[in-house]
Amino acid sequence: MYVCLCRGITDRDIRNAIHEGANSLADIEQRLGAGTGCGGCRDFTSRLLEDSQRREAVEALAYAAA
Ligand code: FES
Repeated sequence: MYVCLCRGITDRDIRNAIHEGANSLADIEQRLGAGTGCGGCRDFTSRLLEDSQRREAVEALAYAAA
């Protein structure tokens, strides 16, 4: 699904950037250009980032508890 129409960036592109180490909205903007046009995708991109970070934290806790 396209998240950033200005730059043609998909949710998969953003998730891949996060997986490769992007850890802030500014980092995602720098790596992909998402959010650097009209800015209309920034809120959704931030939510994707927060969801991914939350998921990684839960997985780390589950791994530590195992
Ligand atoms: S939709 Fe992403 S900058 Fe415009």
